[in-house]
Amino acid sequence: MSQREQWSSKIGFILAAAGSAIGLGAIWKFPYIAGQNGGGAFFLIFILFTLLLGLPLLLAEFSIGRTAESNAVDSYRKIAPGTRWHWVGILGMVTSFILLSFYSVIGGWIVVYLFKAITGQLNNLSSDQYAEVFGATISNPVTSVFVQFLFILMTIIVVAKGVQKGIELASKIMMPALFILFILLVVRAVTLDNAMAGITFLLQPDFSKVTSQTILEAMGQSFFTLSVGVSVMVTYSSYLPKTQSLPRSAISIVAMNIFIVLLAGLAIFPAVFAFDLEPGAGPVLLFNVLPTVFSQLPFGMLFFIAFLVLFLFAALTSAFSMLEIIVSVISKGEPEKRKKWSWIIGLSIFIFGIPSALSFGILGDITLFDKTIFDLADFAVSNVLLPIGSLLIALFVPMKMKKTALYEELKQGSGLKRGLFETWFFLIRFVAPLLIVIVMLDVLGLF
Ligand code: ALA
Repeated sequence: MSQREQWSSKIGFILAAAGSAIGLGAIWKFPYIAGQNGGGAFFLIFILFTLLLGLPLLLAEFSIGRTAESNAVDSYRKIAPGTRWHWVGILGMVTSFILLSFYSVIGGWIVVYLFKAITGQLNNLSSDQYAEVFGATISNPVTSVFVQFLFILMTIIVVAKGVQKGIELASKIMMPALFILFILLVVRAVTLDNAMAGITFLLQPDFSKVTSQTILEAMGQSFFTLSVGVSVMVTYSSYLPKTQSLPRSAISIVAMNIFIVLLAGLAIFPAVFAFDLEPGAGPVLLFNVLPTVFSQLPFGMLFFIAFLVLFLFAALTSAFSMLEIIVSVISKGEPEKRKKWSWIIGLSIFIFGIPSALSFGILGDITLFDKTIFDLADFAVSNVLLPIGSLLIALFVPMKMKKTALYEELKQGSGLKRGLFETWFFLIRFVAPLLIVIVMLDVLGLF
């Protein structure tokens, strides 16, 4: 995708940006982090952060991208020439690199489960047996690294070709299908015996469970699920025609994301309580719970296979965007270089991610600050690098972009009212930086 190429349709951009946002974060990570952090209160704080920080930041990245019409690093250079602000883009590249290194581990888990489901290895098992099979699979060093490689390979192949055409076309079919399958799953889950306990767990806040760590996790989760703070959305919106409404795109992406998070929660927690599983089971939660729910449906394994395909697709569209931001900076939009760098960077990410894949097995005992290598990579990205990236973007917009020009940019294609613009500007200028700093200092015990 060359720099000046544009998305072929309005919906193409929204789907690609939504594809970048909706992925493992909403479907796999949200339920397990919510499960570890007491459920309802975490969900509520996550929604608040998504609306107060995530949405304004998404719009901020969109306005940077469409103003500069350049990649994640040059956009900052173009708007603030001769300054060091382009380091925000470089930080985004580093963050994406680490993110994809552990993201691909979970992507690989989907691949291996898909293989097992298709070959009939998951038929007629009890919920304990699903957990056993899964545990044995991901702790096998050869399997876990091999499937991680397959996931990265798929990502490299698509990004090397230029992401636009593939993503647009596939998203139009896959995304609605994923929603439909999820709704089916939720209907099954909430009608299980004792489902109410799970619904209550997700929707009834219990603030006694909230610590400063919970708040940090909820903030990190809101950045992670929206892909903000990495300048991915700067890159994607740089291909956007001026006729497109940025606020409407941002709102629809946030709405879809919240909806999918809610569906994921409603599919998982009722089942967790119905089958007497552990909500705080960690990264394996979804993989242990879902096959049991599917097995309660007629043609359950067929539905499970369809779900895994769509889930894999959702994870891949996020992974494409993470590799795309790095490749688009380094290859400067030249097709020959794009191919070469997609492979070089993709394979480097794979190698860097191997210890994360092995931390569910042979490297499981290696910990730092009480975290495995995988947990440490996730923590560094979600709770340190994404908040720092987001903070810098929130500072960049009011400091380096003219308010009147920003209003003009956001008004194009949307007719945005002045009052709404002022609200957004206030959130970006004051609320976002303050809130991010307070949450981060609070967790360090400095506040
Ligand atoms: N936003 C991407 C996801 O949630 C990283 O999966």
